[in-house]
Amino acid sequence: MVAQNILLKEEENIDEAKVSVNEHVIGTKKLYIESYGCQMNFADSEVVASILRTNGYSTTSNLEEADLVLLNTCAIRDNAEQKVRTRLSSLNKNKKSNPNLKIGVLGCMAERLKTKFLEEEKMVDLVVGPDAYRDLPNLLEEVESGHKAVNVFLSREETYADISPIRLDSNGVSAFISIMRGCDNMCSFCVVPYTRGRERSRDPHSIYNEALELFEKGYKEVTLLGQNVDSYKWSSETEKYNFANLLEKVALISPELRVRFSTSHPKDITDEVLYTIKKYDNICNYIHLPAQSGSSRILGLMNRTYTREWYLERIHKIREILGEDCGVSHDMIAGFCTETEEDHQQTLSLMDEVVFDYGYMFFYSERPGTPAAKNLKDDVSLEDKKRRVNEIIDKQRQHSAIKNQMSIGKVFRVLIEGESKKSKADFAGRNDQSKVIVFPRKAYKKGDYVNVLVNSCTSGTLIGEIVD
Ligand code: SAH
Ligand code: SF4
Ligand code: F3S
Repeated sequence: MVAQNILLKEEENIDEAKVSVNEHVIGTKKLYIESYGCQMNFADSEVVASILRTNGYSTTSNLEEADLVLLNTCAIRDNAEQKVRTRLSSLNKNKKSNPNLKIGVLGCMAERLKTKFLEEEKMVDLVVGPDAYRDLPNLLEEVESGHKAVNVFLSREETYADISPIRLDSNGVSAFISIMRGCDNMCSFCVVPYTRGRERSRDPHSIYNEALELFEKGYKEVTLLGQNVDSYKWSSETEKYNFANLLEKVALISPELRVRFSTSHPKDITDEVLYTIKKYDNICNYIHLPAQSGSSRILGLMNRTYTREWYLERIHKIREILGEDCGVSHDMIAGFCTETEEDHQQTLSLMDEVVFDYGYMFFYSERPGTPAAKNLKDDVSLEDKKRRVNEIIDKQRQHSAIKNQMSIGKVFRVLIEGESKKSKADFAGRNDQSKVIVFPRKAYKKGDYVNVLVNSCTSGTLIGEIVD
């Protein structure tokens, strides 16, 4: 999930599996769906649940009663894939006790491995790539008739714009909306262009309608999702939209609807987007701007198409237009091919120059078929990779603590997202900068906006009280 907590551990944000349930849907067959990876995968699972509902499936959280188990998988790093393999072997046990159970693999790992999945993992019945979910009913028919089924066709047009997602695990307050699919950037380390295909933007009217519908149902926050939201573009004969225009359109639904977005790309984030954030109070003052490295040499090898100086200029502009209070988080990769200690020091010094609020930090994992795997040597030892990522994590921990300390004594407008995990007597919500704040609940309810005075903090959370 987007920086709901400070995520300081390698992999903590992205590889966790989550079972998605919406028990209220009526159907004769039971679907158990587990999602791994980024928010786009979670959003896709909601599209899949919607497609399968029309095919008579309702979702369940009880594996024992499932007729169909789907794992929506991630291929971003090797350990993301290992988790899925481990999960598949344990699911095999359920297949023994329930021979009619069908198991399908969706998402990025399905797309990467294609039919190889069926050869490698004998218990898998179904392999479906991210652009082929509309074909699920047909594929399931094939599976029902005793065959294995695969569709990993990548599309240049598919955006599932007309499908109304079934909100799974929803708190009824915040929801994700996919605004585009795929990625055309070709960062040399990254598997996403191969698993998600070419970049395409969804019709802005369908995005607007989805956000409006959510707001009318009582939702108070939408997060617009894309691998590179700044390259959103859509046009018809009469209209033309860039990301700034889309943000504005969604923000105008109501001042009571908060709008977030992820992920921004340093090479594409425009001043127009920054001014649009400034213009609307309900567009959150928080930008996730992955850096990946502080060394221009490494950024060049990564094909990120910006330099350290360019990145720092963008940060400067964010702070000039939106003020020092704008939350900024990063992604960083330690130990990319040929990275020296000096390059690593430059990453640490970039962090010192920016002082990020949060960070998602990983060590490099070579992905088969990517430009880096083909052209560069994965020559930093695992030991060095781990040490470097730990140094990056330590620095982020210090910076997050500094940033949290700076919030003490300030009052923030907080959207109540639900009970705090630790105590039923407390609510948890986030402020404009996406920082989690916990406070005694008083007579308010989930979905209310309240003003909260921050009194203290832990490393990941601000603690405060409602001031009426
Ligand atoms: N579209 C986003 C990133 C999506 S992937 C962007 O361009 O910023 C999320 C993060 O996973 C990346 O930002 C990167 O930090 C990390 N990542 C991607 N490929 C990786 C690899 N091969 N090894 C380690 N981390 C990787
Ligand atoms: Fe991967 Fe780069 Fe695209 Fe992000 S922008 S998804 S890192 S190729
Ligand atoms: Fe993983 Fe695919 Fe997302 S590789 S990070 S699930 S786009």
